[in-house]
Order: sequence, then structure tokens, then C-alpha cells
Amino acid sequence: MIGLPRVHHRLTDSTNERAKELAAAGAPQGTLVTADEQTAGRGRQGREWAAPPGSALLMSLVLRELDELLPLSAAVAVCDAVGAKAAVKWPNDVWVDRRKLAGILVEGRPQEGWAVLGIGLNVSTERFPHELAESAISLRLAGLSRTTEDVLPDLLSALDEWLGAPAARVLEAWRSRDALKGERVRWTGGEGVASGIDDSGALAVETSTGVVSLDAGEVHLLR
Ligand code: BTN
Repeated sequence: MIGLPRVHHRLTDSTNERAKELAAAGAPQGTLVTADEQTAGRGRQGREWAAPPGSALLMSLVLRELDELLPLSAAVAVCDAVGAKAAVKWPNDVWVDRRKLAGILVEGRPQEGWAVLGIGLNVSTERFPHELAESAISLRLAGLSRTTEDVLPDLLSALDEWLGAPAARVLEAWRSRDALKGERVRWTGGEGVASGIDDSGALAVETSTGVVSLDAGEVHLLR
């Protein structure tokens, strides 16, 4: 059962850190850690993840049934919980109106048989810091007004459906939510037009010299 047992912290450094401790101590599949506030929230690529207290759904799940498409299936689940306006920006940011609503950070110890799936979803933030004002959005700003405790059951049931779903279904759902397909993108190695993901989740980009396959890192939409 995804979401039980649940440990809630009013304040912690990072729910991923708490979930990793629980996983290492033997916590079962689906153990959920949530928090109102994090002092050291982590994002992908070594970035920080910050949100005003109580304004975001901050959660981490202990998973023991691992599969390679976990980051993609988690993004599909977040989209389903949010609704038709949600899209995925490769590999697993969730966008609404071309702005980031949610981020996903998977940290694993496959050799010990567990991974932690961390999700941060902006719920009621009304004002983002200047540097994020153009690129971030919350459910409230998108007119999808809900509370963190409203969103959580929908997200848990979507995760229950999508984590471990057959790869073909996950890939089809991810492709139907692809925010970058046909868009011009840039990454550290070049630029081109995104043309979708292959069956391993790598992003294909058509460049002037041919198709490039990106299997890690970050791409930026050229707006
Ligand atoms: C990203 O977009 O870079 C991923 C952001 C992931 C943030 C969440 S918030 C809950 C969990 N705890 C963390 O420290 N990080 C994840």
C-alpha cells in the first residue's frame, strides 16, 4: 500500500533524507514521509528545492519494487493527479502553462534493494522569488485551488496505479504528456528540436547534424 505507514514532520531538513534513513532501517514499500517545511530540500543536479512553509506538498516514498522507468512513471502519476493541464518536461518536471509545478528526485541504493522517490509540488504559493517568477507556478496560480492534504490522496492513488505499470503503458502515457515534442531546446552540448523519448526514456533531439539521444542531464526550452 503506497502511503502507509506515514511519518509527518512539521520541520525537517529533507524528506528524502528522512525516507532514506527509514529505508536503510528496513521500512516497507510505500512508507511515506511528508513535511510542512524543509530546511535543506534537494533538487536534481545538486540544486536546492525551496518552498515557503505549508505552501507545497513535500513528500518522499520508500520503494522496494524498483524499475528503470520509475522517474517517468512518477511524472505521469503527478500529471494524472493534477489533471489535463499538466505536461511533462523531460525527464520528469511537471509543467502547467509551460511553468514548473512539480519536481521529482529519485535517490536509490539498488544494491540494497530500495529507492526513495521525492516529489515537491507547489500548491498554494502566490509569489515566487524574482528568479523563479517566470518559470514556476503553483496550483493556486494556475486556478486549480487545492490544499496539500487534498492533493495527497489523489497523488498516492495515481502513484499506486503508475509505479510498476507495464513499460508500454507508462511510455504511452508519458508521450501523451510530452511538453517538449516539436519544441526547440538547448542543452550544454547543442540545440535542436525535441522529437520524443525512446523506450529507455532517452530524449531524441533533431539537430543540424543528425539526431542526438540524451539520456541524462537537463534541457532548456528556447522560448
Ligand atoms: C527537482 O525538480 O529538481 C526535484 C525537486 C524534488 C523536491 C522534493 S521536495 C520533497 C523531497 N525532499 C527533497 O529534499 N527533495 C524532494
